[in-house]
Amino acid sequence: MGAGDDAVIRVGRSGPLEGTVAVAGAKNSALKLMAATVLAPGRHVLRNVPRIADVDTMAELLGRMGATAGWEDEAAGVLTVDVPEAMDPEAPYELVERMRASIVVLGPLLARFGEARVSVPGGDDFGHRPIDMHLRALEELGATFTTSHGVIEGRAERLLGTRVLLEYPSVGATENLLMAAVLAKGTTVIDNAAREPEIADLAAFLAGMGAEVSGAGSATITVEGVERLRPVDHAVVPDRIEAATYLAAVGMAGGAIRVDGARADHMEMLIEKLGDMGLRVDDGGDGLWATAPGRLTAVDVSTLPYPGVATDYKPLLVALLSVADGVGILTENVFAGRFRYIPELVRMGADIRVEGHHAVVRGVEALSGAPVRAPDIRAGAALVVAGLAADGETLVSDAHHVARGYQDLVGNLAALGADVAYSSSDEA
Ligand code: EPU
Repeated sequence: MGAGDDAVIRVGRSGPLEGTVAVAGAKNSALKLMAATVLAPGRHVLRNVPRIADVDTMAELLGRMGATAGWEDEAAGVLTVDVPEAMDPEAPYELVERMRASIVVLGPLLARFGEARVSVPGGDDFGHRPIDMHLRALEELGATFTTSHGVIEGRAERLLGTRVLLEYPSVGATENLLMAAVLAKGTTVIDNAAREPEIADLAAFLAGMGAEVSGAGSATITVEGVERLRPVDHAVVPDRIEAATYLAAVGMAGGAIRVDGARADHMEMLIEKLGDMGLRVDDGGDGLWATAPGRLTAVDVSTLPYPGVATDYKPLLVALLSVADGVGILTENVFAGRFRYIPELVRMGADIRVEGHHAVVRGVEALSGAPVRAPDIRAGAALVVAGLAADGETLVSDAHHVARGYQDLVGNLAALGADVAYSSSDEA
């Protein structure tokens, strides 16, 4: 069975894991690259695109706007997007609500068509996530916004390059601004830009389209606007969060695995933290080797924008700490409300106390399998991973969240020898 709305993942105690698993392209890059295709009419080719529900949603959004996005070779992850000369520059509520990342069409639509209508994203499982920085940054390039009936309407005769200092290195705001700046008149300098590898991938994609971008991956990005861009053929950067999920799995279940395609240079801080915990991770050229010799040791970790430890790794780290030797304190500095999965881990016998934006995790010898619910993509994956170190059976419901971001988490963990499978909710 696949990952429909009633999908349940059944996990039994597993390990040691062994074998090789390959990571797909990064969700959080692929979605933005798909949005960026809007900037140039013609046929774009994206390679190493993950086969995940969010990519389908972005393809649907592009379709609503008049482009055609579809798999040319699904098994190989090759997706094409045909972008027409004229488009309907609107992201409807239904799609923005399903996938918040839809708002990254705002910058490219304004840059190419001088107008954009995007539904205001509501709250989500991380709590309230504003887009004020996106709007303020685009306003600095000359865009104006009005909001009525839940829709933000943006207009810009011609965007004009300028220096924009972001109040916080927001990933989405940096991306929207970067995609707007490439077709703006003159020079845009983005200061305090987000430095995530997915931003550097977007800049490389835009450069392939003929944009003039330098400094992406650092805190200052400079863009010289050009008149017109052309279609591009580009391979998506590997997914560091998916790679981290397999590292956490081996940390949880023990064993030795290889994660093909993962880039050590995109995961330095995490690899260092995992090393402090006793999980050995070696750079194996085009991939990582990971060995868990025994029970891990607790450490303290704080999430931060890149190159800090990503907030997306946090549920995995909490799962690892829940069975590590000692007490670890996890501090969330990126999303205030991102602790919703903790009561689920507690149901599995974890000893975790949340105080403000800190989680104090006291490691126990073993978790105990229980029915739990996936509140979002990353937390869902972490609950599956936690089940590997839990006696008995863990049933993770709402597993459709996991399919939003992972091409085949269940199949890949099973290939490493884990006792993981989809089960229908009737059986659950
Ligand atoms: N923020 C504002 N105002 C804004 C924009 C952001 O206050 O206008 C705040 C947010 O509320 C948050 C912080 O700034 O507290 C960071 O948000 P950021 O904009 O950096 O995150 P994002 O672009 O909304 C992306 C990823 C997330 C990932 C974060 C942080 C995508 C589609 N999403 O979100 O990934 O956690 O960066 O690295 O790229 C996921 O993949 O499951 C996921 C949630």
